[in-house]
Amino acid sequence: MCLIDDLESVLLTDDQIQDKLREVARRIEADYAGRDVLLIGVLKGAIMVMADLARHLEMPVSIDFMAVSSYGAGTTSSGVVRIMKDLDRDIAGKHVLLVEDIVDSGLTINWLLRNLRSRQPASLDVFALLRKPEALKVDVPVRYLGFDIPSEFVVGYGLDYAERYRNLRCVGVLRPELHAG
Ligand code: IMP
Repeated sequence: MCLIDDLESVLLTDDQIQDKLREVARRIEADYAGRDVLLIGVLKGAIMVMADLARHLEMPVSIDFMAVSSYGAGTTSSGVVRIMKDLDRDIAGKHVLLVEDIVDSGLTINWLLRNLRSRQPASLDVFALLRKPEALKVDVPVRYLGFDIPSEFVVGYGLDYAERYRNLRCVGVLRPELHAG
């Protein structure tokens, strides 16, 4: 049984994702010319986008990760966030780019931005690979965006359903019979 057979549809192919990351990497290189950038990824969803974006960037970058848990029922976020793993280093005075897999309600990222801003980085911006329409209702300052996608639960390229499908190269919608919610 092939993992991709569990998808009802493929929203984004590996090629489309990589082309977009290359394009965003060129913008980041131009915007941060002459400055060292710290990429902060949010585990575990951002691992694939972090690995690929970092390798498309032809400039020096540092990488750090945080892990957070959002308390919420099932597949929705409540906005109450707990840090499960904090950054290894202080970010005061650094140019920070937060790398996110997906912005859905926007609650998690807004909480993270408040938390990171209080640590006084020199600058703080967001790259999100995917954004759902709900996120447009709250003020989520996404400077670099991969794709706006429909309000459907998607998996692949780091995104999971019950910890599965993160290792799919594409992003797709799960077949309904495999999706409890
Ligand atoms: P938010 O706080 O509602 O923006 O939710 C953000 C987090 O919820 C993301 O970092 C993901 O971990 C998870 N999430 C939101 N939508 C999806 C989805 O369609 N598939 C998988 N995970 C998702």
